[in-house]
Amino acid sequence: MNNVNILVLVSGNGTNLQALIDAERGGRFRGGEDYPGGRIAAVLSDRPARALSRAEAAGIPVYTEEPRLSLGPAERRRELSDRILGIARGTGARLIILAGFLSILEGNIIKAYGGKIINIHPSLLPKFGGKGMYGERVHRAVIEAGEKESGCTVHIVDAGTDTGPVILRRKVPVLDGDSPDTLAGRIHDEEHIAITDAALMMLRRLGGDGDNNNRGRQ
Ligand code: GAR
Repeated sequence: MNNVNILVLVSGNGTNLQALIDAERGGRFRGGEDYPGGRIAAVLSDRPARALSRAEAAGIPVYTEEPRLSLGPAERRRELSDRILGIARGTGARLIILAGFLSILEGNIIKAYGGKIINIHPSLLPKFGGKGMYGERVHRAVIEAGEKESGCTVHIVDAGTDTGPVILRRKVPVLDGDSPDTLAGRIHDEEHIAITDAALMMLRRLGGDGDNNNRGRQ
């Protein structure tokens, strides 16, 4: 069975991307008799990001597509999403993984890749999700709300923000005296497991789902 080409979208440090790269290099995405393997075909960022140097160090093609600030917010999201759709198609991607990607995807890409875009979010969705809830803000809100546990969620991306069907969650305790930083660190460790497990689950789901369009990196 052909490998599934994966496009990973990033905005920041890229530790989740690194977990995916390490999983691929470690043979975790090799595939089985009845399901395809996976290969990170390209990495795309919406801003200059440390994640891109991780991809380059691994020999993976990178793209930077920044939002056009001259456009209004809705058009800006659609226009960026359409450019990303073009790159996804050009790289033959069958699976798109948002690994700390902070722009919101909208419009054609959601239809074209329905059920094949996943996102990792650093809270137990549906709690502490939605527009404006990312990174440090999430952890601060969790602590301020007095939550006893938090964690991360991997979900399918739909037309909403952080609303699609959940693939998996991993939980951590919120400890007395936690700062957003200490909580984020504990959750990050779980994210790296969650994102690779979820990628593997998606490869199994994609098994037999149409022909892989194998362009891009071989
Ligand atoms: C991760 O904690 C991820 O869950 C979060 O950004 C961080 C990226 O870390 N994503 C969101 O908040 C999306 N709403 P990384 O760049 O080290 O992988």
